[in-house]
Amino acid sequence: MVVNQLFFPSSSFVFTLQLIYRSIMSEISLQAYLYRRARDAPVQFQSRKIHGKSRLLLVHLALHYVIASVIIVTYYKKPVFIHQGYMQWLWDVDGRRYLDLFAGVATVSVGHCHPKVTAAAEQQLKKLWHTTNIYVYPTLHEYCEKLASHFPDPLKVIYLTNSGSEANDLAILMARLHTGNYDIISLRGSYHGGSPQTIGLTSNAAYKYPVASGFGCTNTMCPDVFRGPWGGSHCRDSPVQTIRECTCAQGHCMANQQYIAQLKETFATSVPNKIAAFFGEPIQGVGGAVQYPKNYLKEAYKLVREQGGICVADEVQTGFGRTGSHFWGFQGHDVIPDMVTMAKGIGNGFPMGAVVTTPEIAASFSKGLHFNTFGGNPLACAVASSVLDTIREDDTQQNSLRVGTYLITELAKLRDKYEIIGDVRGKGLQIGVEMVRDKTFRIKPPMCITKEDADFFVAVFDKSVRNYMEKR
Ligand SMILES: Cc1ncc(COP(=O)(O)O)c(C=O)c1O
Repeated sequence: MVVNQLFFPSSSFVFTLQLIYRSIMSEISLQAYLYRRARDAPVQFQSRKIHGKSRLLLVHLALHYVIASVIIVTYYKKPVFIHQGYMQWLWDVDGRRYLDLFAGVATVSVGHCHPKVTAAAEQQLKKLWHTTNIYVYPTLHEYCEKLASHFPDPLKVIYLTNSGSEANDLAILMARLHTGNYDIISLRGSYHGGSPQTIGLTSNAAYKYPVASGFGCTNTMCPDVFRGPWGGSHCRDSPVQTIRECTCAQGHCMANQQYIAQLKETFATSVPNKIAAFFGEPIQGVGGAVQYPKNYLKEAYKLVREQGGICVADEVQTGFGRTGSHFWGFQGHDVIPDMVTMAKGIGNGFPMGAVVTTPEIAASFSKGLHFNTFGGNPLACAVASSVLDTIREDDTQQNSLRVGTYLITELAKLRDKYEIIGDVRGKGLQIGVEMVRDKTFRIKPPMCITKEDADFFVAVFDKSVRNYMEKR
């Protein structure tokens, strides 16, 4: 259900915020695109004029031929007809330029149509489009070696998939085969995919259907230090803390102990005494950039392993340097998972996913035959390999840290200025701004945005909130 849509025209820009109320668990998604004049475009814009009836026809096509539940999410009063992209910019069919602060849901990592990645894709297109991973071919195996080099031991065995849901499905299967146990725990508010299996891990009513699915999945309390029952002013690993009071002694986070007690309660009441796995995002993505107390994952992993389970970090949104301080989100929690799943940023928008695990767990999976026609596709591997090179060459992770920290700090000033902004949080370019009344803006731009872009966004956001408050 769309609860609000704000539209603030001005002489130099138009800022469109779409707040979509997705559930009483407060999953609200933001798409914020800032409009700038097309004549500033750094690339040749290929215009495609669509006016009047043709516009209506396109909306009609979208409503009738694209699955309705997707359209609910993308609905705008005035839909944006996206046509072209370059780095942090998007253009609509009329040539209006937008600063992309959502990156197609944290998916465009190094930049739309990044020239280096585009060149790698073009080269591969001329060489070989398809072969399956039952053959040995250099593009796949060299990519796997390169990806593995970004992980600590013993995370060295890689399975390539086409999406995050597929990666998490595979992770569920492998966890069950390896442990011989069935039950899996995830955190409330999480999103791990929309397949019949992963929908059980996903804990957000908006994505649930009234059909039997996700057997053996239990969702436990999310240690949300802003909205949850416990939290203070030192809990999270972010440049900005909540405005909650805190009396904890240094290094003794009471909130963490309370949330860990809730996890213990789940073990005591809701699952058998042996479990297969625990899935957690290092920072919740769809849930609204929710961060846990600093030691939560460390203690949770210990408890899970005591129950016979393996620990899976879902890095679909937090991986590839987005959190700035580290290449992987789990490194910010000082843990080493048994399995890591990823997608989105891995291919900068090219469909791809991966599961990385230990040789021991991989061995348990080798008892049967596992085949995936497109997993490890040559094009995907060429693109993904170039993405890894580009992150290094463009210093993308460092940019995430620098621009992200600056942006979070500037947004926190707006929180202090406007009573309707409840919380500002996140790390690097995985940022959440939670309004007091239950709505979260998710800010996850391509990681090439600049400080100047951040300033522009903050100025527009400031003006938008001010306009909104004056009109209330
Ligand atoms: C954390 C997380 N895991 C898994 C998924 C599922 O990925 P996909 O949409 O590629 O299936 C998503 C998608 O938004 C996600 O954010």
